[in-house]
Amino acid sequence: MSAKYVTKSFQKKIQPYLTTFNDAQKEQFYSDADSVVQELVSMGKDSKEVLWVMQSIGLYLYGNSGKNFYVDYQRIPLSHNIVLWTIQPPGGGCVHIFQTPEGKLLIDTGYGVNHHDWVITLGNLGLGDFSDVKHVLCTHGDCDHVGMTGFMPVAPLVHPITKQLLDNGSRIYASSNNLQLLQRVYTTTINTFSQMTLPTEYHLCKTETVKMRGIFPVIDEVNFAGLHFEVWQSLGGHLAGQIFFYEPTEGLLFTSDAILNFATLTRPRLIFGSIPDYLITSVNINSEIARQERSELTKLAQELNAELKSNGKHIRLCCGHGAVSVFDDKGNMTVVDSVIHYSRRKHTEKIHNILSNISWFIKRRTI
Ligand SMILES: [Fe+2]
Ligand SMILES: [Fe+2]
Repeated sequence: MSAKYVTKSFQKKIQPYLTTFNDAQKEQFYSDADSVVQELVSMGKDSKEVLWVMQSIGLYLYGNSGKNFYVDYQRIPLSHNIVLWTIQPPGGGCVHIFQTPEGKLLIDTGYGVNHHDWVITLGNLGLGDFSDVKHVLCTHGDCDHVGMTGFMPVAPLVHPITKQLLDNGSRIYASSNNLQLLQRVYTTTINTFSQMTLPTEYHLCKTETVKMRGIFPVIDEVNFAGLHFEVWQSLGGHLAGQIFFYEPTEGLLFTSDAILNFATLTRPRLIFGSIPDYLITSVNINSEIARQERSELTKLAQELNAELKSNGKHIRLCCGHGAVSVFDDKGNMTVVDSVIHYSRRKHTEKIHNILSNISWFIKRRTI
């Protein structure tokens, strides 16, 4: 059966992004993509627009790789000679890097397609490379969070359901979401276009409840270089198997994709981040649960913030996307740790640094 929408000329446009597929897999993908266009057309979308959005995933990822790669980062000194670097790549989730005297601990890893760019970027930021990474903790199985795990020298820690989801190959796994075809083909598209590279071995976190933090069961812990991370089980509104990490001494809460500081996302990141809304109606597999989860996690973070404040500290929300944020007096998220732009193109780096520093100082004065 010949494809109605995914024509030979469109196949040629997306072929460069199917680097890991053999001919049979490519044919299967074109056929699946055609069915997706058909389904979205039946939902009222324009076929040309759908095809353009699909292609734009590859255009954006590859267009912001290599010499065009850039990041926005925050360098946050902690106690015991530890520094937290939260680094936002052009597309996808933040990579949180703890630089410690005993090596690095990573929370989430970014897209596989940018692995080489990350190595160069870390070197240029004075962070070395990934060879001294001792722990990789992954919040969930979306490829912007696990995509580089296969390049790491250690097996990543994930929830057992995340491992099953990755083996299954669809982000709809273990959910009641009924958009089977759209979700499965979207997962294949984004995983393949972004060159997701998975490891052969995983560390699976424990799943028994040790205690509760608000409505979230604490199911495991990770200790490294004087840091103590609690592993919290989510409700799975964004994705089944999602976990959060909390470091109580430093007041660091890794909220994954349950709480994002949208105000700190640049326009290109916002537009790229809205693609799932278009292709699978929502980035969350259960929007109602995701809303409840966000609200409960925010409430809990504010309670922890009040506790920390009595010790002269405050909570930092280390989001899955966007800048590390704190709560202001009104309970709104705001940024106090300077966000610095780094680009592999030196001349734009300087301009961006000046602009980001100016905007940071203006924000500081208005807090
Ligand atoms: Fe994400
Ligand atoms: Fe996600």
